[in-house]
Amino acid sequence: MSGAAALHSCFTFLAIITFFAASATSLDTIAANESIASDQTLASANDVFQLGFFTPDNANYYVGIWYKNIPDRTYVWVANRDGPVANSSTVVFKIGDKGNNVVILDQANKNILWSSNQTRANSSPVNPVAQLLDNGNLVVREAGDESSSDYLWQSFDFPTDTLLPEMKLGWDLTQGLDRFLNSWKTPQDPSSGDFSFKIDYHGYPEVFLWDKSTKLYRSGPWNGIRFSGVPEMQSSSTMDFTFVSDQQQVYYSFEVNTPNIISRLTVNSTGTLQRYTWVEDSKSWSMFWEAPKDQCDHFSECGPYGFCDTNASPICNCTRGFSPKNLQAWNLRDGSAGCVRRTELDCSSDGFLLLKGMKLPESSNTVVDMAMSLDDCRKGCAKNCSCTGYSSANISNGEAGCVMWFGELLDMRHYVGAGQDFYVKLSASDIVAFGGLVTQNSSSNGLGTLAIVGIAAGGSVLLLALTAFLMWKRKTSLNPHIRNTEPQGARERSQDFLLNEVVISSKREYSRENKPEELELPLFAFNAIALATKNFSDENKLGQGGFGCVYECRIEEGPVVAVKRLSKNSGQGMEEFKNEVQLIARLQHRNLVRLIGCCVEMDEKILIYEYMEHKSLDSVLFSKTKSSMLNWERRFNIICGIARGLLYLHQDSRFRIIHRDLKASNILLDGELNPKISDFGMARIFGRDQVEANTKRVVGTYGYMAPEYAMDGQFSEKSDVFSFGVLVLEIISGKKNRGFYYANNELNLLGHSWKLWKEGKGLELLDTAVGDAYSMNEVLRCIQVGLLCVQEHVDDRPVMSSVVLMLSSENPTMPHPKNPGFCLGRAIETDSSSSKHDGTCTVNQVTVTMLDAR
Ligand SMILES: *[C@@H]1O[C@H](CO)[C@@H](O)[C@H](O)[C@H]1NC(C)=O
Ligand SMILES: *[C@@H]1O[C@H](CO)[C@@H](O)[C@H](O)[C@H]1NC(C)=O
Ligand SMILES: *[C@@H]1O[C@H](CO)[C@@H](O)[C@H](O)[C@H]1NC(C)=O
Ligand SMILES: *[C@@H]1O[C@H](CO)[C@@H](O)[C@H](O)[C@H]1NC(C)=O
Ligand SMILES: *[C@@H]1O[C@H](CO)[C@@H](O)[C@H](O)[C@H]1NC(C)=O
Ligand SMILES: *[C@@H]1O[C@H](CO)[C@@H](O)[C@H](O)[C@H]1NC(C)=O
Ligand SMILES: *[C@@H]1O[C@H](CO)[C@@H](O)[C@H](O)[C@H]1NC(C)=O
Repeated sequence: MSGAAALHSCFTFLAIITFFAASATSLDTIAANESIASDQTLASANDVFQLGFFTPDNANYYVGIWYKNIPDRTYVWVANRDGPVANSSTVVFKIGDKGNNVVILDQANKNILWSSNQTRANSSPVNPVAQLLDNGNLVVREAGDESSSDYLWQSFDFPTDTLLPEMKLGWDLTQGLDRFLNSWKTPQDPSSGDFSFKIDYHGYPEVFLWDKSTKLYRSGPWNGIRFSGVPEMQSSSTMDFTFVSDQQQVYYSFEVNTPNIISRLTVNSTGTLQRYTWVEDSKSWSMFWEAPKDQCDHFSECGPYGFCDTNASPICNCTRGFSPKNLQAWNLRDGSAGCVRRTELDCSSDGFLLLKGMKLPESSNTVVDMAMSLDDCRKGCAKNCSCTGYSSANISNGEAGCVMWFGELLDMRHYVGAGQDFYVKLSASDIVAFGGLVTQNSSSNGLGTLAIVGIAAGGSVLLLALTAFLMWKRKTSLNPHIRNTEPQGARERSQDFLLNEVVISSKREYSRENKPEELELPLFAFNAIALATKNFSDENKLGQGGFGCVYECRIEEGPVVAVKRLSKNSGQGMEEFKNEVQLIARLQHRNLVRLIGCCVEMDEKILIYEYMEHKSLDSVLFSKTKSSMLNWERRFNIICGIARGLLYLHQDSRFRIIHRDLKASNILLDGELNPKISDFGMARIFGRDQVEANTKRVVGTYGYMAPEYAMDGQFSEKSDVFSFGVLVLEIISGKKNRGFYYANNELNLLGHSWKLWKEGKGLELLDTAVGDAYSMNEVLRCIQVGLLCVQEHVDDRPVMSSVVLMLSSENPTMPHPKNPGFCLGRAIETDSSSSKHDGTCTVNQVTVTMLDAR
C-alpha cells in the first residue's frame, strides 16, 4: 500500500517504459461476433497490457492479462482461475451470448467451458464490444459508449491477486459487490489460494489479510491520510492513495501520477502482501513494501488491551491500568492472552488516558460520526458504559470526527515517532492512582493536575473530575491500602511514551532506586521441564555450551524456549545461585539473550532463555552452505550489535560484568539475524570461585583468550575486548581463529590478518561468501578495530566505548594497531580434557579448559 516516499526517491532509477503510439496492427477490441483463439492475443491501445491464453504448468490453460512489455511475465488477472481448460484449436475467449459478460467457449460443440458472472443481468446491449484498456481493465461495453459508469462488465470488479492503479479494492454496496485480492494457490497454480486481502466496511473500515478464516494482519483504519497501521504510507508526487467510504461504496485505491512508473500491490501465494515497482535498469520487479513484516504486524500478537512495540523487549506490554491475563504465558513471551483491567469501570466517573503513537485498535466494533468534535467524542464515550476508547476519525487537517470503540481493544501497536493518538477509558481510581503519583503528599495539589491529566483536557468536565476525585478520596479513606493493590513494580513499568505530560514529569520524583525489586523471574518446576525436554533427550538437544547442555522445548504450551541445564559442578549453593540469576535477569539489552526463567530444584540448576531462530553465529558463519546468508550489511550489523551488548555488560549495566567466554558459539542470532550475546553472567555463576579461589583454573576458549588471561589467569574488560577482536576478524574472514593456517606459514587468523594489514592488502581477508556488495571503508575500519582489540598489550587495547565509537563513525581517527597477541598460535593448542564433570553431560572440552599457570 505504501512505499510511495521510497518510490519517489528512487524515481530516477525507475523505468522509462516507452509508450508506443497506437499501432494499426494491434487489436484492443473485439465485437460480439469475434473471439480470441488460444494462439491469439488482445493488446491494449498503447501496448501496456496483453490478454490471451497461457499455461503456467503446461497442462491447464487459463485466460489472463499480463504486462506486454515486461519480459518477466507477470499476470495481473486470470479469468478462469478455478476453471482451467484444455488447449485445442476450437477453444476461444469471447463475449457471452447476452452481451454482458465474457466466456470461454469450445466452438466445435458450442460448449461453454467457463463464464464470468453477469454484473448487469438485466441489460440487453445492442452492439457490445470487449476492450482491453491501458490500465489493465478488460471491459464489456456498448460500442460507442465509453463512459465507465455504463460498463456492462469489467475485470476490475473481479480482481485476482493483484491491485493495479485505478482499481478499487472494496465494496460497491449498492450492488453488493466485494472486490478483494485472493492469492494464487502456488506460483504455478492460479486457482484460488488461502490468502485474501479484504475490506471490512463495518464500523471504521479497514483492510484485513486473511488466511482462510483466520485474520493474519490488518492495515488499521483509514484516518484521512493513511491506514493507521502503515505509518510509512504517504501520498506524494508520484503516487496518490485514495480511500472512499460513504453510503454507496467503501474502497481503497491508488494512482500513479507519473506515467512511466509501473506499480502493483499483490498477495503472494504464501500470504505476504507486497508492493512491487518495475525497475527498468535491472529489468526486475523491486519490492517497496510488504506486510506482515514484523512480529507486531501479526494480528492480535499481544491480545486484548495489550500493545506491541518492536523496539521493546518483550515486544508485548499492557496498556496502563491493565495487567497480563496469563502471567506465566506472558513471562514466556506469549502475549496473546492479552491484559485485563486492574480496576473495573464503574460507568459514572471513568476517565481517559492518552496513548500516543499508536496503531488504532481493531475497528469493526466502532461507531463513527464525522460531524462530532473530539471533545463531544470524549463525552459520548464517557456516557456509554460499553465504550472503551475513542479517537479522532480524520486527522488529515487537525482533528475531526469521532470514532468510539466498543468491547475489547485488539491489535494495538506503538510506533516510535509515528502513529496517532488514542484515548483509552480507565477507571477513575486508576487514573487518580497514576495521577496521584505526581503529588503523593499533597492531595489538594493533585486535584488541579488530575482534572487535566486524568479525566480530560477541557474545563467542561471539571465536574466529572471532581466527582472522580471525591470517589477516589472515599475509596482511599475506606481502604487505606488502595494504592498498594497495584502490584509492586507496576508503576516502574509505566509506559513513558503513553503518559501525558504531567505523569511523565512525576517520574523524576518516583525514583526506582527506592524500592528493592522483587524477583520477577518465574520459577519453573523441574518436572515440567523434564517433561518438555523428554527427559533431556538428545532429540531435543540444541547443543552443548560451556556450562551445560541446551535443549529446545515448549514448556506447558508456552512458546519455544531454550533450556540450559547447568552442569553440577558450579560449586554454588542454591541461594547464591538464585541471587546471581536474579542479578543476571535484570540485565536487559537488545543484544543480550533474555533470561526468562529458571529452575532450582534438588541438585538441578536450569536457566530458561528466549529461543533464537538462527541458533549460534558459528553455525552460520562457518557453514559452507549458510555463510552466504551473511552479506556485509548483516555482518557489520552483527559486529556493531555485539559491541553494543558488550559495552552494556562492561559499563552500562548496574553491575560490571566481564563475559570471559565471548566467542562465535556464544553469539546467537534471532529471526532477523540480530546478534545476542548469550552466557553472559556465567562467569559470575561459575567463574567466581574458580578464578578467585583457584587462579590455576581458567575459564575460556582457546583462540579467543587474551594472552595475559590464558597465561596468568589475569582478566579484565580488556580480555573481553581481545575476544571481541578475534570475533570481529572471524566475522570478516568467515574463518575460525583456531585451526586456520595460512598456506605454509603457520599463522593463525590473527597473524594472518596482521600480515595482510601490514602489506596493505586488508581487503583480501574478506570472506568471499560476502559477495560484491560491501563498503570498503567499513570493512577496513572493522579490520582495524579488530586488530586494535587483539593487540598483545592490555593497555594498547581500546575500551568498548571507544570501539563502539570507532565502529559508528564514518571517519574516526584510529590509532595504528600494534602486533597481536600471538601466544595462542598452534603451539599450545592441545585439547585439554582435564576438566572434571559429572557424567550427565560432558562439557564441551573446547570451551571450559583448565590450564596450569605457566
Ligand atoms: C462482425 O459483424 C460485423 C457487423 O456487425 C461485420 O462487419 C464483421 O465482418 C463481422 N465479423 C466477423 C468476423 O464475422
Ligand atoms: C494451443 O495449441 C496451439 C496449437 O495446437 C498453439 O498454436 C497455441 O499456441 C497453444 N496455445 C497456448 C496458449 O499455448
Ligand atoms: C459468480 O458469483 C457467485 C455468487 O456470487 C460466486 O460464487 C462465483 O464464484 C462467481 N463466479 C465467478 C467466475 O466469479
Ligand atoms: C478528512 O479531512 C480532509 C480535510 O478536512 C477532507 O478533505 C477529507 O475528505 C476527510 N476525509 C474523510 C474520509 O472524511
Ligand atoms: C512471499 O513473500 C515472502 C516475503 O517476501 C517470501 O518469504 C515468500 O517466499 C514469498 N512466497 C512466494 C511463493 O514467493
Ligand atoms: C452505547 O453505544 C452502543 C453502540 O452505539 C449502543 O448500542 C448502546 O445502546 C449504547 N448504550 C447506552 C447506554 O447508550
Ligand atoms: C512497557 O512500556 C514502557 C514504556 O515503553 C516501558 O518503560 C516498560 O519497560 C515496558 N514494560 C515491559 C515489561 O516491557
